[in-house]
Amino acid sequence: MKSLHRKYSGHKLSVVILATILILSMQMSYAGDPNTFNRLLKKKAEINLPQSRDGIHDPEAEGTNALQPPKEAFANLVKSKAGNYVDWVKSLREGKIHPRYDRLDPKAKPIIMDLNIVREVKGSMPDVVYPHAQHTEWLDCSNCHPAIFIPQKGANQISMASILLGQKCGVCHGKVAFPITAKTCRICHSKPKSRKVKNKK
Ligand code: HEC
Ligand code: HEC
Ligand code: HEC
Repeated sequence: MKSLHRKYSGHKLSVVILATILILSMQMSYAGDPNTFNRLLKKKAEINLPQSRDGIHDPEAEGTNALQPPKEAFANLVKSKAGNYVDWVKSLREGKIHPRYDRLDPKAKPIIMDLNIVREVKGSMPDVVYPHAQHTEWLDCSNCHPAIFIPQKGANQISMASILLGQKCGVCHGKVAFPITAKTCRICHSKPKSRKVKNKK
């Protein structure tokens, strides 16, 4: 009876150990890829798949295979280090792409506003510079104002948490514009802290 009990509890223990290992390894694989929901953060090999395999387009639909595959379309564009690996701002500025500003009017030109908004960041990260120019080259004011941002410096509360949840800058960044990864922090956090300048005085 005693040995049976020992056998039984030994069995229970190994089940517990197995379960723990399973949960831990599940958590580890999850931690390795916390953004599985975000298609721009897929591993490089899985990125820019042809439309029939991208999980977005219906592989059964007739039109799907008529689309130019991303890898072919992106081949001559300026490269970046994250997202779909295209630097869209540079590609536009170097004339490698000519997107229509207005779907119906091929001659419509954007109203580009060159106004940077600096958002001071508490802590050690460099301050954020939000550039209107690079956005208004493609987007209309109404894409952001007033639904996403009240057009007044400092009037909006923005945090990394809200961005990662797909709000504020995250309405686009991580979905249709470059995502938040360790390789992109400095694209937004581009202004060294002004404290150093103040200390010199
Ligand atoms: C991609 C989003 C986006 C687009 C598009 C955009 N803005 Fe903004 N705008 C912002 C953000 C972010 C701020 C800063 C808000 C803050 O600091 O709380 C801002 C601030 C402003 C401000 C306040 C400036 C100040 O000093 O108080 C004005 C005015 C403004 N935008 C006008 C425009 C106009 C006009 C357009 C179109 C030509 C435009 N914006 C397009 C995101 C955008
Ligand atoms: C309405 C969509 C939208 C919103 C909201 C938005 N962006 Fe962007 N952003 C874009 C697009 C589109 C580009 C150009 C494509 C790219 O670089 O991936 C861009 C590019 C940029 C760039 C790159 C400029 C360069 O020179 O390469 C910076 C920096 C940037 N955004 C910062 C921000 C910050 C900070 C916020 C929030 C305050 C924000 N964006 C909100 C759409 C948006
Ligand atoms: C798309 C632009 C963008 C990118 C990319 C980005 N940030 Fe931010 N970050 C912001 C904005 C906007 C704020 C809010 C600034 C403010 O307080 O107004 C912010 C705030 C922060 C803060 C202050 C605390 C908080 O949560 O508000 C930290 C820390 C931070 N970012 C770290 C990072 C790190 C680390 C990365 C790279 C993994 C990163 N950020 C990438 C735009 C960005």
